Amino acid sequence: MSLTTAISREFVSANVKKAMRVLSATTILLLIVSALLLCAGLEILNAQNSSASALGGRVTSQEEGPMEGVLVSAKRAGSTITVTVVSDAQGQYSFPRSRLEPGQYSVRIRAVGYETDNPGPVEVTAQKAAELDLKLRKTRDLSRQLSNGEWLMSMPGTQEQKQVFLGCTGCHTLERIVRSQHDAAEFVQVLQRMTTYAQGSTPSRPQLRPRGPAGNGDGEGPMGGGPPPPTAVVQKRAEYMATVDLSSTSQWEYPLKTNARPKGKATKVIITEYDLPRPEAMPHDAVIDAQGMVWYSDFGSQYVGKLDSKTGKIAEYPVPVMDPNEPRGALDLELDPSGYVWLGTMYQGVIARLDPKTQEFKTWKIPTFGKGDAARTAMVTPGRVDVDGKVWVGADDEYQVNLNSGKWVTIDYTQGLPPDSPLAKLNLGSYGVASDSKNNFYGMNFGGTFITRVDAKTMKVTRFATPTPNSAPRRGHIDPQDRLWFGEYRGNNIGMFDTKTEKFQEYAVPTTWTNPYDAILDSAGYAWTGGMSNDHIVRVNTKTSDVTEYLLPRTTNVRRVNVDNSTNPPTFWVGNNLGATIIKLEPLE
Ligand code: HEC
Repeated sequence: MSLTTAISREFVSANVKKAMRVLSATTILLLIVSALLLCAGLEILNAQNSSASALGGRVTSQEEGPMEGVLVSAKRAGSTITVTVVSDAQGQYSFPRSRLEPGQYSVRIRAVGYETDNPGPVEVTAQKAAELDLKLRKTRDLSRQLSNGEWLMSMPGTQEQKQVFLGCTGCHTLERIVRSQHDAAEFVQVLQRMTTYAQGSTPSRPQLRPRGPAGNGDGEGPMGGGPPPPTAVVQKRAEYMATVDLSSTSQWEYPLKTNARPKGKATKVIITEYDLPRPEAMPHDAVIDAQGMVWYSDFGSQYVGKLDSKTGKIAEYPVPVMDPNEPRGALDLELDPSGYVWLGTMYQGVIARLDPKTQEFKTWKIPTFGKGDAARTAMVTPGRVDVDGKVWVGADDEYQVNLNSGKWVTIDYTQGLPPDSPLAKLNLGSYGVASDSKNNFYGMNFGGTFITRVDAKTMKVTRFATPTPNSAPRRGHIDPQDRLWFGEYRGNNIGMFDTKTEKFQEYAVPTTWTNPYDAILDSAGYAWTGGMSNDHIVRVNTKTSDVTEYLLPRTTNVRRVNVDNSTNPPTFWVGNNLGATIIKLEPLE
């Protein structure tokens, strides 16, 4: 072995050793780094685990200890989205990590009879669950927390006397009425003034009816319909109203009653509220399309909106003004089989079709335009326009409209009835309108008790009375089996009319004064409803008749109800017509 080789060998082996040392140091470092990465990864995974808590705690009060059924709502500073969960039987609440991004949150609660001292803000981080126990105390002023339904439950009077108030909740809550100090004579004046407002009104943004007061004298056009009630009837109503307000006492002499808090299944839910960009927005109908876009009509303004259910992003499109002197706003919003969005534009007197791709509108004008309430194109049914190119329109009269020829044919509800028949004297018109798979018409007789079928080809009228008399069918949806699901506003039921067997089924809503406005069946076999009275959303399992009554986090004026069948279980969507929000309700079981 030469010296050089020996040196070089030694050199090599020294270098190899060194390299080995460097390598093992690197390996250790690598091991440490990857371990760290793994931890971080687990942390991220944990953070992404939808069931892991971002914020949670226990709700208790001195009176009850741990409290079930308390709604806890969290809103991040600067956000337009509020998320609500409900405490369980142990009083425990938890916001899943997937629903609260890091940030500073304000927290509020809903539990009738209770308040919490400002518990927020609370910091939600990506790493660790934030803890916030909520201690509730009895409220000092229960009257500030009552829903319309709870006022109706509390006030003395007969069912019939109280039902007059159901015509008031379209524009404002009953609190305004029971807190007032009017005597009977003043109430006569107030009732008169209410009939001068168009439906899409709120106290902060009234719209006058351009052609004078509504015909029926109860403040809400379609309620009852027909001629104004005789002065004696108005007088009686006014006298009754003066017995439930503060005209003769400084405090209500009747005990204030409240509904029970949610229990069991009704606490297994996540509710998301999306604030709309215009605080005056009145989202009347909200409908989800196949792309997950929630379209909504605005009852008081010339806008149609679109909420992306995945991102929460909102876009609004101006609806053409047909007559600047008429009240603004649209009622019915429906999708047709090609994905066009249809609107009943109320006093603007047209049915309007929006192409979501081009954002262009096409309109069809009612022939009675400018003639009183008859021009009020409230409802439109394009759901089976593919069958015969026709839609049905609900206004003061109802019509079949041929979209190609532009011809409007009026439904004759009294056809074949002798003029002296007791039926001919009733209000037979329809409020909600729906169509079956052959595009036959089904009208909901809000002023009475009928589901009215009109044959699409012959225009022949057939009436079917609901099992509950005078139930006030209001609006509904036809399911894929041609069964009509509808809200019985006075009957307090979800109604189902099977158009094939011509048989009804009614599902009673347990809480009185829920006053279902609309109903829909989802693909899992649950029927859903809600109304303007008690902030409840009701889900009925039609196989077992098991009923769940969810409570919404705030005062909510519920109109059209809708479901998204692409989730499991299906998700419920609704607009808050007097609260400028769109609401998503996800049952967890
Ligand atoms: C179409 C919308 C609408 C309906 C329906 C409606 N109101 Fe009103 N109400 C308003 C508006 C707008 C205001 C605020 C402006 C005003 O006072 O005239 C108001 C205010 C009130 C007030 C407070 C003002 C006052 O004078 O004390 C009372 C009380 C009231 N309404 C009673 C009723 C009753 C009772 C009914 C049902 C029979 C009813 N309203 C139905 C639109 C409506």
